[in-house]
Amino acid sequence: MVTAVHGKKLHVVKWRGRIRLAGWPGMGPLCSRFVAFVLLPIVEVILQPTPESVARLAARIVARELKARPDLVLGLATGRTMEGLYRELIRLHRQEGLDFSRCRIFSLDEYVGVSANDPRSFRHWIHEQLLCHVNVTSENIHLPDGMAPDLEEECRRYEAKIREVGGIDLQLLGIGRAGHIGFNEPLSSLRSRTRAKALTPVTVQQNAAWCGGEEHVPRRAITMGVGTILEARWCLLLAVGMEKAEIVARAVEGPLTSMVPASALQLHPRCTVIVDEAAGARLTLKEYCRWLFEHEPEWEWCRNASLF
Ligand code: GLP
Repeated sequence: MVTAVHGKKLHVVKWRGRIRLAGWPGMGPLCSRFVAFVLLPIVEVILQPTPESVARLAARIVARELKARPDLVLGLATGRTMEGLYRELIRLHRQEGLDFSRCRIFSLDEYVGVSANDPRSFRHWIHEQLLCHVNVTSENIHLPDGMAPDLEEECRRYEAKIREVGGIDLQLLGIGRAGHIGFNEPLSSLRSRTRAKALTPVTVQQNAAWCGGEEHVPRRAITMGVGTILEARWCLLLAVGMEKAEIVARAVEGPLTSMVPASALQLHPRCTVIVDEAAGARLTLKEYCRWLFEHEPEWEWCRNASLF
């Protein structure tokens, strides 16, 4: 199939029912097919006009997965980016009866040495932002315990719990300015498992407002490892705002490197990145991403404006 994206002729091939850009003007169709094969899988990027539409689309994806599989194993993330998504999920629960009663929750990370009642704790935050407002049952909520006396043992317990439920179906992710996912800071092994990790100065700075000043930011956190995250069946990374534009481009289009742990998602067979225009501003394949979203059969259901 040859098609035009903004006036440029591009070869587009279908691979396992999904559309893929596979060549550039001048490249023959055989060569395109070969490139499609080599490039697969790719990170799929969806550009949305505003942070609100990022949140709405992400919430619709979570809701759809939850309806298809009521005992979904859902990996939650923290951070300002997630707030809109969680608000939208609460709205879907209240107004459309979205049911979380069988949903199993796993949280990505937690500060070390911070108790559950401490407003800095992610456990506290995730309850306030989402879990207290939907009908998740407490026995289905799993979070790493940053107060555990033996952190290594706690990390092993957490990994074992994820395995016991059969792995994470849908993992939500934000991205830190240093390129972290969870608290997998630069130089994290791309095969790392859940462990305690020291935060970089950039992350401490980024999370200062959350904790009431840099001096109150805990210096260590338990985080699912990059390898743990890569085992989730579907990774959904959200980013909004121009301060994320550079790191999003490096994660999605840059080289695979432990200096940008989020770039490991390029190895994932199913990773979807949803960004607003500001966070997607530095992507070079923006037009291709737009074209894909408009034509990909998989997204047919959410191109219907009435959903939003
Ligand atoms: C924290 C979390 C990360 C998250 C990041 C982004 O550091 N550990 O999982 O991706 O915040 O935060 P924000 O969405 O506020 O930019």
